[in-house]
Amino acid sequence: MTLRIEITRPDDWHLHLRDGDELKSVLPHSARQFARAIIMPNLKPPVTDTETALTYRERILTAIPPGIVFDPLMTLYLTDRTTPDEIRRAAESGFIKAVKLYPAGATTHSDSGVTNLDRCDAALSEMEKQEMPLLVHGEVADPSIDIFDRERIFIESVLQPMLARYPGMRIIFEHITTKDAVDFVVSASDNLAATITAHHLLYNRNVVFSGGLRPHHYCLPVLKRETHRRALLEAASSGDPKFMLGTDSAPHTRHSKESACACAGCYTAHAALELYAEAFESVNALDRLESFASFNGPDFYRLPRNASKITLEKQDWTVPPSFSYGKNDSLIPLRAGELLHWKMI
Ligand code: NCD
Ligand code: ZN
Ligand code: ZN
Repeated sequence: MTLRIEITRPDDWHLHLRDGDELKSVLPHSARQFARAIIMPNLKPPVTDTETALTYRERILTAIPPGIVFDPLMTLYLTDRTTPDEIRRAAESGFIKAVKLYPAGATTHSDSGVTNLDRCDAALSEMEKQEMPLLVHGEVADPSIDIFDRERIFIESVLQPMLARYPGMRIIFEHITTKDAVDFVVSASDNLAATITAHHLLYNRNVVFSGGLRPHHYCLPVLKRETHRRALLEAASSGDPKFMLGTDSAPHTRHSKESACACAGCYTAHAALELYAEAFESVNALDRLESFASFNGPDFYRLPRNASKITLEKQDWTVPPSFSYGKNDSLIPLRAGELLHWKMI
């Protein structure tokens, strides 16, 4: 008999959709599986105000394939100059669900990010007042700090002081990659939650260097050693409501990935749920997939859980070697040309 599991339709709490023709290429992949997604604001230029977020949201809605229901939950990009007024406008808009902190220089398109958190004090205080969640790319940007330590150092130097300074603010520690982050989230107040990607559950850093340099496995924060992957898998499948699904699916053209200076980002939207199912199955925890994928996110964001269901079937299928991307570029997905063992039907 074919093995099937039915779960409440999930949401993606960390997604890069880009814009224009690129947006049109990738959006159907996410909308096939997820009812909602938190849309990252790191466009060029970034989405720093409510008006820009509104027009971006409209372009996303226009790109949704007919017959599919998908609700893009918008975010604002925090800068040194974000005003409390802007935070108020965002909160009043109803469609902006969070504000994103990129330490300047920490990741792709973060150059307009925050250089010094003290400059954001008024905006952060207003967020606390408006009950607007803060999403953080949790790595220090200091190039003198070892790249494998940047998340751990961020916890002690930025996250812990921030939780103390704004005790009423809900914070989501995005795409966590270390046991240090897991332990910190578990021990912190209920105002702290975390997203975990499928690729950080499935791979350790060896995959980036297996038989040569593999740019399609290069993302930020970079994959870590096996002990960290194990800790993430244990956290995601523990049933702890602080951990939620966030793919961080981050498309880049093949050309910009296969380059002397490859962009950071793994593309997983084409098979996100199937990849998570594989990770959960590896620790016999498929019965915990639903809370991680479909309940913990809306509960933390104080949004209703989805009403509809989706079905995953144990079935081998081969991921296409590439997808067309934008006007005339291509995109190499995670597991390109390789087998997957679960399929959403
Ligand atoms: C993301 C991107 O390409 O926008 N890249 C990545 O490696 N994760 C940015 C981010 O989420 O840090
Ligand atoms: Zn990030
Ligand atoms: Zn991201």
